[in-house]
Amino acid sequence: MAEKFIIHPRGPLMGRVEISGAKNAVLPVLAGSLLTGQPCRITNVPNLSDVEFMAELVESLGGFTSWDKSSGVFNVDTSRLSKYDAAYELVGKMRASFLIIGPLLARLGRARVPLPGGCAIGTRPVDLHLKGLAALGAEIEHTHGYIEATAPKLVGAKIYLDFPSVGATENIMMAATHAEGQTIIENAAVEPEIVDLANFLNTAGAEVRGAGTDTIKINGVKEMKGTSHSVIPDRIEAGTFMVAAALTRGDVMLTNIMADHVKPVTAKLKEVNVQVTETEDGIHVKADGEPLIAADIKTLPYPGFPTDMQAQFMALMTQAKGTSVITETVFENRFMQVGELKRMGAVIKIESRSAIIEGVEKLTGAQVNATDLRAGAALVLAALTADDVTEVNGICHIDRGYYRLDDRLNQLGAWIERAKENA
Ligand code: EPZ
Repeated sequence: MAEKFIIHPRGPLMGRVEISGAKNAVLPVLAGSLLTGQPCRITNVPNLSDVEFMAELVESLGGFTSWDKSSGVFNVDTSRLSKYDAAYELVGKMRASFLIIGPLLARLGRARVPLPGGCAIGTRPVDLHLKGLAALGAEIEHTHGYIEATAPKLVGAKIYLDFPSVGATENIMMAATHAEGQTIIENAAVEPEIVDLANFLNTAGAEVRGAGTDTIKINGVKEMKGTSHSVIPDRIEAGTFMVAAALTRGDVMLTNIMADHVKPVTAKLKEVNVQVTETEDGIHVKADGEPLIAADIKTLPYPGFPTDMQAQFMALMTQAKGTSVITETVFENRFMQVGELKRMGAVIKIESRSAIIEGVEKLTGAQVNATDLRAGAALVLAALTADDVTEVNGICHIDRGYYRLDDRLNQLGAWIERAKENA
């Protein structure tokens, strides 16, 4: 039964929150576990439905997983990897499943994976993934909604990415670990999750150099081995809690966070009069001083302002003094939260890839719909300081990327109830 959040406006959020492991780091690492024929122990794994989906997918291919959700320890053993054919109903649940195609090609020389559909935020093609795998020698066919790839042998190549795609960088990097000779990926994505994946692969015996820069060199190896790896903290979950503290004029300490990874969000929050200080404990956000003022943002690949924080920052700007312009350059349709925020009284106009937000005193409570993960999170944030109760429907999207967002906000002083959606 679909669930909703019933959000009652309360005062400033106060207290401490521990940030979970990064969804967008653990998913590629679990896909990468297909590369080694030995057991791997992954820790700091967040308890998310997307991780559940990836575990099901690995098991459907012959892998074995055991996951202790309370301790965040996830053991995976793909020594019995036997299938190269991923089921439609599993891949359809989560686009990140497409990250298995590179590892399957490297390990089994074959892969048959459903072409991921588009989603709420855009068509999200995988042409750059396929171009890179073909450059490594894979034969790629697109039949009946599936990508069939075969590569009796992968050979290192020089690959230039037209766009620094996170997923394409990850897929190509993983396939290249078993390619003969050296692969060079140019204009590679430089997100922290790429570095985390490269660290995991290297401790498992791969030779990946330059992750975190726009040129990554991978020397192919014959075999990889099991390893242990702790997943980096989730910079987007951290940014979401930082904006929640700012919106409610609160005083919150975030722990288990890597300050460097949230620099773009920290810089923007300071620009809008929020105090953000890095301590040895973590990051302290204090917003009970000057009123929020408007600022413009333009989303860009890392280390620019993250597209995954665009909706949350828009929620903040709906209550800032002045006019802000938010430009989304990474995805072509990532303003799904605008219509819902306007139902809450926000004043927003979309002009091509920009949204122009006129700050208002207060939003009003309303019934709204979460269309995707980050848009849903933005609606929860907006509801924290509305003048009345808000109901956010479709919270399955939110549970994919945030572990018990309601409980953890309630621990900071919010009042959010989880209930069944009206039939
Ligand atoms: C990853 O998606 C993240 N997901 C996304 O987070 C994040 O928004 C995105 O990177 C950008 O940072 C995971 O890591 C699981 P891209 P990914 O390939 O790899 C175009 C969230 O909310 N493109 O960098 O799919 C694409 O259409 C999610 O946690 C091509 O044109 O992102 C988009 O416009 C949402 N061809 C742009 O590049 C390709 O072959 C960025 O996509 C691949 C991508």
